[in-house]
Amino acid sequence: MFVERPIGVIDSGVGGLTVVSELIRQLPKEEIIYIGDTARCPYGPRPEMEVRKFTWEMIDYLLLHEIKMLVIACNTATAVVLEEAKEKLSIPVIGVIHPGTIAALKATKSDHVGVIGTEGTINSGAYYRELTMINTDVKVESLACPQLVPLVERGMFSGSEAEAIIKQSLEPILKTSIDSLILGCTHYPLLAPVIQKIAGESVEIICSGDETAREVSALLYHANLLYTGERPDPSHIFYSTGSQDMFQQIARDWLSIKDIDVKRINLQG
Ligand code: SIN
Repeated sequence: MFVERPIGVIDSGVGGLTVVSELIRQLPKEEIIYIGDTARCPYGPRPEMEVRKFTWEMIDYLLLHEIKMLVIACNTATAVVLEEAKEKLSIPVIGVIHPGTIAALKATKSDHVGVIGTEGTINSGAYYRELTMINTDVKVESLACPQLVPLVERGMFSGSEAEAIIKQSLEPILKTSIDSLILGCTHYPLLAPVIQKIAGESVEIICSGDETAREVSALLYHANLLYTGERPDPSHIFYSTGSQDMFQQIARDWLSIKDIDVKRINLQG
C-alpha cells in the first residue's frame, strides 16, 4: 500500500541526517530511505547545472524505491531543484528553506534575521526571497560560510581549530544586530553548540530540521499518507556515494541511530 512506502530523503552528504533525526523523533512509525552524495559533496560551490544533475540522479534513484514523499534536505539543492521537482513529481515534495524561514520568523522579536549557508544557497537569494515574501518588514543579513561544510565532513564539530574557523567565518554577520540566525545548510546544525557559544545568548540559532519534520508530518497527514498501523521496528535504509564510515560515526555520535546500515551506491551513469 502507498502509505506503507518510505519517505525519501536526499542530501549532498551527512548533514541531512540532522533532518532524519527529527523525522525519526516526530514520526517514529515512518520508514526512511536516505541518500547522501558524500562522494560529490559539497554542492555549495558547484554550478547550478551540476547541482541540478546530481540532485536529479538522487531523486531518480529514490523513485525506483517507490517513495511516498521526497524531502530535499540540502539547502543548495532545495534552492536549485525544489520548484521543478514539485512540478514534475506526483508525490509530495518538500525542501528545507521554507521550514527554516518559518522557524526564524517565529523566533525573531526584532525582525532582524541572519542566514548563513553555502555560496550556492546565499547567492541564490532563496532565503531572502522566502523571508521577505512572508514578512516584508524583516531585515535579512546573509553570509556564505564555505569553510563550514568541510569541517563537518571531516568530523570536526568542536575543538580550538573548529572554533577559530567558525568565529572568523561568522564575524561579519555577528557585527550586525540580528536576534536569530538561520543555519541555512543542513551540515551546520552539527556545529550548532559552537555557533551558539560564539554568537552568544542574544542570538537564537535556528535549525530547520525540527520545522521540516513538522511540515512533513502535516503534508503526509493532509495527503492521507501518514502511516498509522503497527510498526514497532521500522527499518531505514542509508545510501552513501562515498565513505560509509562517516555516516556510521555521525549517526552514532550525534543522532542516536544505533546499528545503522550504510550501503554504498554509484549514481554516475
Ligand atoms: C553543501 O552541499 O554544500 C551543503 C549542504 C547544504 O547546502 O545544505
